[in-house]
Amino acid sequence: LIVEPLLQGAGGMLMYSPDFLHQLFTIARKAGVLIIADEVFTGFYRTGKAFACSHIESSPDMVCLSKGLTGGFLPMGITLCNAHTAAPFAEKNYAKTLYHGHSFTGNPLSCAAAIASLELCQAEGFEDKVNQLALQQSRFAERLNDRFPTVQARNCGTITALTLGSEESGYDYTHPIRQRMYAFFMERNLLIRPMGNVVYLAPPYCIEAEDLGRAHAAMEELLSVLEKG
Ligand SMILES: Cc1ncc(COP(=O)(O)O)c(C=O)c1O
Repeated sequence: LIVEPLLQGAGGMLMYSPDFLHQLFTIARKAGVLIIADEVFTGFYRTGKAFACSHIESSPDMVCLSKGLTGGFLPMGITLCNAHTAAPFAEKNYAKTLYHGHSFTGNPLSCAAAIASLELCQAEGFEDKVNQLALQQSRFAERLNDRFPTVQARNCGTITALTLGSEESGYDYTHPIRQRMYAFFMERNLLIRPMGNVVYLAPPYCIEAEDLGRAHAAMEELLSVLEKG
């Protein structure tokens, strides 16, 4: 089982509950299936907790991490696995080695950025900051759903997303409205990258409430303009 826990990113910012994730893990465990959690996007507090899998009791066998690992500052990826999964490769017999390495594995600059970012995550007040950001984002989603019920605004921790168009038509990465929205935000000095008819905000944790408020206001302005046709 390979799963993006709680949130499918490039698939349209689709969100689902921790309860569903827990049930998924339980079924896979019962069937003896290896569980791989792709936390490349959700890892490092994006969903409000350290990892999306931290929202449930059970753990995956393997976890893929990147993006937030270095605070998005330098490229780096890590694949973690539990002892049970590592054991077959840990033998003295060379033939059992997991012969795999990237050209830039362990790049010293990226490692330094990762350590610096992890230190920031452990700093006093960091979790409060994330919680405040998550609260501002969830309130924004609620406000959108009150004002524009058709946009299916949704929130997961520090991420808020919406979809334009009917529920049946769903996510369309090639939707031409993307160009219009991108230009609309750029005119307001906001670099927001819509994915077709899906728009999302996943701000850096250092963002000030006022700046995020500006992005929220621009999104509401855009929706009002679109509503008028
Ligand atoms: C959930 C998820 N997995 C994997 C990737 C790809 O990661 P990488 O660019 O490190 O190959 C992305 C990139 O956007 C992602 O969001």
